[in-house]
Amino acid sequence: MSKTNKSAILVFCLLLFLSSVSSLPQVTDKNRNLDDRVRAFLSKTEYRWRDMNVPETDGEILYNIVLENKYTKALEIGTSTGKSGIYIAWALSKTGGKLTTIEIDRGRYEEALVNFQEAGLSEYIEARLADAHELVQELAGPFDFVFIDADKDWYTDYAQALIAKLEAGGCIAAHNVYERRGGWGGHGGTGDFFEYMKGLTQFETTILTESRGGLSVSYKKKAM
Ligand SMILES: C[S@@+](CC[C@H](N)C(=O)[O-])C[C@H]1O[C@@H](n2cnc3c(N)ncnc32)[C@H](O)[C@@H]1O
Repeated sequence: MSKTNKSAILVFCLLLFLSSVSSLPQVTDKNRNLDDRVRAFLSKTEYRWRDMNVPETDGEILYNIVLENKYTKALEIGTSTGKSGIYIAWALSKTGGKLTTIEIDRGRYEEALVNFQEAGLSEYIEARLADAHELVQELAGPFDFVFIDADKDWYTDYAQALIAKLEAGGCIAAHNVYERRGGWGGHGGTGDFFEYMKGLTQFETTILTESRGGLSVSYKKKAM
């Protein structure tokens, strides 16, 4: 190789390196700004959530599950005013993903839109005003993370509609899931859902003891 060619390659590599390094601070600044904005929003609204929203601990667990598994295709059933959606979308803003979230109540849906905007997360969320009984059937997927937090007697139906649309390694998380049968977790409720998920051999299902609201997680096993 001639001396001129070698120098040209060297200059090209140097320019490539400089351009990649100069673009790094922008990305970091964007993430840092968003982190600040989300934290400020969550701190300001700490005592304002009144619509069956997840406790902070469970929001943080959802955030960690999405981030640690690098999930990017998330679905939430039961947006309410958007608290859990904010934690999920915050993690998705770091993995390069997007959340679809479904709510049937117009008032709560509209409030969620305002909250998503204020938290700076709207671009990571597609909020749908719809009956999840119907929309979940229509959504094509695939998803790698699903959070079920709506009508308790429909949890098993939601899971059945979504299992085939969930990627291997994906997770179905569900809120207010209790192991006991009878009472709230009883027939037709989340107890039956838990039994159903535990019976599926392609899933690993547990209720997280660190959760404050009965958060179950079912991981779809990767193919052997
Ligand atoms: C427990 S709240 C969800 C809380 C929310 N995940 C959070 O932590 O901020 C349950 C929500 O599910 C909604 N819901 C109930 N049945 C539904 C259905 N069939 N389709 C869509 N949303 C439904 C309710 O209107 C309610 O807002």
